[in-house]
Amino acid sequence: MPDSKTDPKILVTAALPYANGPIHIGHLVEYVQTDIWVRFQKLMGRRAIFICADDTHGTAIMIRAKNEGISEAELIAAMQQNHLRDFRGFDIEFDYYGSTNSSENYELCCQVWAALRQSGLIVQREVSQLFDPVAGTFLADRFVKGTCPNCNALDQYGDNCDKCNATYSPTDLINPRSTLSDGIPEVRSAMHLFVELEKMHEFLNEWTQTGDHLQTEVANYLKGHFLQKPLRDWDVSRPSPYFGFEIPDSPGNYWYVWFDAPIGYIGSTHAWCKQHGEELSDWWKSESTEVHHFIGKDITYFHTLFWPGMLKAAGFTLPKQVHIHGFLTVGGEKMSKSKGTLVKAETYLDHLDPSFLRYFYASKLSASIDDIDLDINEFVAKVNSDLVGKLVNLASRTARFIEDVGLAPVYPHDGGLFKAAAAAGQSIADAYQANDYARAMRIIMGLADDANGFVENAAPWTLKKDPSQASKLQDVCTICLNLFRQLSVYLAPVLPRIAKQCGELLNDPIVHWDQSQSPLLNNSVNKFQHMLQRVKIEDVQKMIESGQENTPAEEIAATPVSLSDVAPTLIDSGDALIAEPLAETCSIEDFIKIDLRVARVLAAEHVPEAKKLLKLTLSLGGEDKRTVFAGIKAAYEPEKLVGRLVLMVANLAPRQMKFGLSEGMVAAAGAGGVEVYLLSPDSGAVPGHRVH
Ligand code: 2FM
Ligand code: ZN
Repeated sequence: MPDSKTDPKILVTAALPYANGPIHIGHLVEYVQTDIWVRFQKLMGRRAIFICADDTHGTAIMIRAKNEGISEAELIAAMQQNHLRDFRGFDIEFDYYGSTNSSENYELCCQVWAALRQSGLIVQREVSQLFDPVAGTFLADRFVKGTCPNCNALDQYGDNCDKCNATYSPTDLINPRSTLSDGIPEVRSAMHLFVELEKMHEFLNEWTQTGDHLQTEVANYLKGHFLQKPLRDWDVSRPSPYFGFEIPDSPGNYWYVWFDAPIGYIGSTHAWCKQHGEELSDWWKSESTEVHHFIGKDITYFHTLFWPGMLKAAGFTLPKQVHIHGFLTVGGEKMSKSKGTLVKAETYLDHLDPSFLRYFYASKLSASIDDIDLDINEFVAKVNSDLVGKLVNLASRTARFIEDVGLAPVYPHDGGLFKAAAAAGQSIADAYQANDYARAMRIIMGLADDANGFVENAAPWTLKKDPSQASKLQDVCTICLNLFRQLSVYLAPVLPRIAKQCGELLNDPIVHWDQSQSPLLNNSVNKFQHMLQRVKIEDVQKMIESGQENTPAEEIAATPVSLSDVAPTLIDSGDALIAEPLAETCSIEDFIKIDLRVARVLAAEHVPEAKKLLKLTLSLGGEDKRTVFAGIKAAYEPEKLVGRLVLMVANLAPRQMKFGLSEGMVAAAGAGGVEVYLLSPDSGAVPGHRVH
């Protein structure tokens, strides 16, 4: 049981999404990552809350509301409903989801502001900025376009040139135009308020470089790029008109959106506290609270310099860790609206199950800030093989045989499978804690392979046919369902729906990690309910096409689209065929001479004397086992192969090799070396099935 006096309280946040657009699959990397981490903490019995909000202020929202002919308040209210619907659809479970445009947030902004003033950190200066006389507003850098002052490239934004990468001030642009009105902006000056961050240099140096608050690569980046020279003053005010909070001691000026957005973490916690009868100071001014922020690498600067600086000045709890992740690419490329790869959460949910994406992201996420790639073929293969083939099949192939008798009263002999998987629990938990979900998934799927090897050998479907084997059948199914439950506990942070269904199937809700450590006995087993359907590549294609249909017409018109643009990862280059042209035509008689069979890898080991070979023991079902020496050592680690299905040439004449007799061949594609890809059947095939 957690001890509320000694255990830390854990407050977790994900970056607040802007209220000027919908959630897409790129955003979801972070919300899924954070949700998994929070669910893991809760499953361990720790006291954790997940706090978020919509980020509602700024010029972009003001302009959008104006264009749509509605008030900002109407726009942000509608967008919040939209975001909440999408998050619910992906099982992202916040303890509180607020808004930066709330009274609690205003109150906290005032508190932080007063503290900054009191510490003498605020200075005031005139700033010259471009002003759009038609729209009647100052222009943020992204709202001005013109000719690059460095290379003369046309149509460049006000902050940097995407042709020559020069950075400059928007007032340096040649022939600037406002993107709001196409009017010619004029330079006007206005008073701005700045935070003198340099005064906190020493503190920030220490906080970023010691105490493990940041990933090493992030700490080094900050040191190399910012901390070796004086820190620039941070401009935190904007003159009217601006959608935001007016600064109490500076009428006509508003806090810049990036001032009140992170304070929204505290504002939102405050709203949660009010709802739950808690004290805000117990969460944000307390040594027994760990604050964990999850963010993308693009907003590192705000969260690792400005934010700790503000918290320190105002006496709030500093983050224990800022967990930073990379971006999502699709098929190795930046997501693109016109290619349909910038898939909205809503569009995804119209076509595919959210568990697929949660699992896929988990299998890709580590503690590094490297980008992660969603390759559509890999997505389909992984979901089908791991979730349907390895996990759900364990239950679907066994539960129905013992619905009427329930689990056995005494845990049967399982060859040590449950115990071994229970012992792996600590490594899995460590991996979750360290954000290395990819490692957690690899360990869990290794256990699933072992469990499937057991089902295959025990063949409950055969036992079912013989009434004298009823007790053995109950034992086998008890083992399989307990292994399924153990994996469901381990996967509960990633796949809450499966965990819930497992709890319903076995009449024992999954609520704690420790349930993975002892098997269930004597429980009744409910009727198996469908859990997950295989994903079809056509569904993914349809999703991409429909995302593209939703792209504004003018954007599509401006971008010529070819089939390869629509689904880049589905169009294959043809290089492999050129490298190895097709063989001579053969007759069907020739083909059927080759007896290709489905086989399961029972064991795989290195052959110390052979550079390229692994020794595989394959089962064709029943007693029929074969030894095959396969040239796949460079591409596969033997332990990962055990339990999986492969295709083998079963009637190949045995061949005496230096290391032993090879009794067949496994089928694989690829050019050789590390480029070897073993073939597997779709789930449902069993060892011994012939390939026609
Ligand atoms: O980059 C963004 O999407 C911002 N809306 C994130 C804000 S996070 C926090 F600081 F509020
Ligand atoms: Zn340029």
